[in-house]
Amino acid sequence: MIQTKKIPAIYRLKNRYKTEVIKAVENYLSICRNNNSAVFWPIRMFSALNLFLWHLEAFKKNKDPSEDFANVFNRHSLLIKNAKENNVVLDVAKLNNNEVTFEENVSDLFSNIWVEMHDDIYFDETFYFTSTRFKKNNIDPESFFKNKVVLDAGCGSGKFSATIAKFGAKKVYGVDIGKKGLDFARQQAKKKKYCSKVEYIESSLLNIPLDDSKVDIIWSNGVIHHTIDYKKCLQEFNRVLKKKGKLFLYVNGSFGLFELLQDSLRICNEDIPQKLFQNYIKSLGVNSGRLYWLMDCLYAPYEYKSLDQIKLWLNETGFNNFIQLKRGVPSDQIEQISQGLPYNKEKYDEGQGKIISTKK
Ligand SMILES: C[S@@+](CC[C@H](N)C(=O)[O-])C[C@H]1O[C@@H](n2cnc3c(N)ncnc32)[C@H](O)[C@@H]1O
Repeated sequence: MIQTKKIPAIYRLKNRYKTEVIKAVENYLSICRNNNSAVFWPIRMFSALNLFLWHLEAFKKNKDPSEDFANVFNRHSLLIKNAKENNVVLDVAKLNNNEVTFEENVSDLFSNIWVEMHDDIYFDETFYFTSTRFKKNNIDPESFFKNKVVLDAGCGSGKFSATIAKFGAKKVYGVDIGKKGLDFARQQAKKKKYCSKVEYIESSLLNIPLDDSKVDIIWSNGVIHHTIDYKKCLQEFNRVLKKKGKLFLYVNGSFGLFELLQDSLRICNEDIPQKLFQNYIKSLGVNSGRLYWLMDCLYAPYEYKSLDQIKLWLNETGFNNFIQLKRGVPSDQIEQISQGLPYNKEKYDEGQGKIISTKK
């Protein structure tokens, strides 16, 4: 059994959604739970992926997606039920799903994804996206990072560590619990001269192996909502950051129907081995950036917090002067929200919280 400490959206946020939405998701969950033998994994992988991809088109429409949301879940419940009744499921060998800790589960998931990442996404797209996101929010990334000592907290594959080095940082520490991801990052670093300033360290962010007041900037992109102790990470960030140092924090805010969709599918997928699902997505020929996004959304446990809660915790742990980045590249949900996506509250609510704050 995989440990999932997070409370699923379906229980936490029940009163936020329409009754038919909740009923449809509950029914789908119970059908998945009742059909959890390996013979159902192929049909359920197909279903989970298609349910998730459904939102990409459905959320573009100028209407509240609640009714369609309930309908699509009901159709997929029927699909699995019919597959069972008509015996059209394929047989696959049952794989062992040994007891693993929460951190092992998260680090294993991401480590297996990083090794798939191609250089165009790793170096070029990451640099372009980061540059665009900063500039659209009127921040010049070069002056932000130039000659700074930076901690990339939860660096994963190291793609942002490389980008930050390219912006001219003096030194970049990339810290993560995923050994396989760090091995990949070290190999990638050999491909670019500017990456010689990056040092990768295997460690949990709950106990960062750096001295107090060691760094000028902390960059933490999509990490601490996957950890077991959100607030302890913020305390550690505060400790290793110099006074007046900057923290760039990307964590998920409240995320509307998207949160319910993602969270419910993650729970449904708990018994399907990650590697099997990853190979299935790969077999569809998606690019390595999208593969990462899909596996992240369909497998990683998230802790969604409202932006008010995040700012409160930042304040309590010693940060102030919040600058919220509301613009991004077109595929970022916050960019769609800021461009006035119809029914954005129902669809994505606050979207990603990208906040730059200062150590008091
Ligand atoms: C969604 S990935 C983000 C990686 C990277 N920041 C990026 O944006 O490409 C989350 C990363 O957080 C790491 N992680 C999760 N919990 C952690 C912890 N307690 N300490 C250090 N890293 C952790 C995972 O291993 C994974 O690499």
